[in-house]
Amino acid sequence: MSETIAPERNDQPGAARCPGPSTKDIILDDKDGTPAAITTESYEFLGDSDLPYSRYTSKTFFDSEIDKMWSKTWQFACREEHIPDVGDTYVYDVNRYSVVVVRHAPDQIKAFVNSCKHRGMQLRPSASRGCLKQIRCPFHGFSWNLDGSLKEIPCQWDFPHIKKDDFGLDEVRVGRWGGFVFINLDDDAEPLENYLGVLTDHFQNWPLERRYIALHIEKLLPANWKMAQEAFLEAYHVLATHPQGLPTAGDANAQYDVFGENITRFVHTIGFPSPHWKRPMSEQDILDAMGGGELGLKVADGQTAREVYAGHLRKNLSKDLGVDLSRYSISEMIDSIEYFCFPNLFLFPGISLPMVYRFRPNGDDVDSSIFDLMFLRPLQDGKDAPHAPDPVRLDFEESFTTVEGMDQGLAVIYDQDTQNLLMQTRGIKASRKSGQTLGNYQEVRLRRMHMTLDNYLSA
Ligand code: FES
Ligand SMILES: [Fe+2]
Repeated sequence: MSETIAPERNDQPGAARCPGPSTKDIILDDKDGTPAAITTESYEFLGDSDLPYSRYTSKTFFDSEIDKMWSKTWQFACREEHIPDVGDTYVYDVNRYSVVVVRHAPDQIKAFVNSCKHRGMQLRPSASRGCLKQIRCPFHGFSWNLDGSLKEIPCQWDFPHIKKDDFGLDEVRVGRWGGFVFINLDDDAEPLENYLGVLTDHFQNWPLERRYIALHIEKLLPANWKMAQEAFLEAYHVLATHPQGLPTAGDANAQYDVFGENITRFVHTIGFPSPHWKRPMSEQDILDAMGGGELGLKVADGQTAREVYAGHLRKNLSKDLGVDLSRYSISEMIDSIEYFCFPNLFLFPGISLPMVYRFRPNGDDVDSSIFDLMFLRPLQDGKDAPHAPDPVRLDFEESFTTVEGMDQGLAVIYDQDTQNLLMQTRGIKASRKSGQTLGNYQEVRLRRMHMTLDNYLSA
């Protein structure tokens, strides 16, 4: 590791950084061809005024988000492997909006407003999946072909005033990228490709369409949807919330990037102690703290804990998953690399931390939200993704540690994150202060998210 100590610069707001090796220093020191996308830095100072708590507590504010933002933005509805076969359907709901996503031909997907054109009945239950030959309303049996065209009206003699061509299902825009199916309720929205900005370029390194959902958890959280996802937008909280990570994880030296209005990112390293960790650690100590000791892993002269641990995972996961992981750098193998796509999609392209998050309001409740946590694993060459599993549903009080197949260390971390939320929801309501005060660098992603939200609300 080079001994460069980044000077602390306080001259401009947002210019100061944690002293010591930066995320970029640590990754470049791996000297193993990490994609430039990871070490690219893109920070900008976005202001330092407080963010009003009313943005989290006010029903009027919440309602305007529903009216003006959720109705206008691209949002992740499902993965392709949720609807692999012709006739497969997936219902995606946000507040009052409900959309049926349908694979109507082998490589063609449409989405429809989930409301019957006869008397408004939901065509499919909320949050349901199915495999259909036609879309038939359960109330009186009007039916539509999978492409949304009207198929049949029972007792058609009573509806001479319906013109078949005018009575197709109301279509909702669909976009597809990286194995994700997005919808947008706004017919005039910009194309998804533009909206995704740097994602399409950066993720050429990480083709998420060649991954599949190995585990999906849907957890109810006792916090406003924005507060819930803010808990995952910064690594500043690791010191107090996840102290067990300090010997092996970066936090205060994490890198934060803003790529335009819709995309932000953090990168924090694994296998290098936090700047807060003051006890000296040999590379073997670090490896042992990562669990390498129990596996009998040894750091040879000239090696780093990062190198040994990533090498071990590369070899074993390649075997377990039946895929060749040799092209992935240490950073891609083990670091926590998290992209956020407004309003609510989080993507981790790494191999050992391969998560996808989605946050949504929980129905009409300002104070609770739905958190989808998915783990994506690489697919073997030539194989199709297996059908996506149904989510394991966890109520407000239920722990991630109860989920079969969940890594227990990660489960504890998610419990620590989500246990903060009830106290924060109560705390902001008790506050004599009108809003939250953010760090200029480490919490810039929160501010960017609110600024983008404001663009919708003021449009
Ligand atoms: S409401 Fe759908 S068929 Fe009557
Ligand atoms: Fe956390």
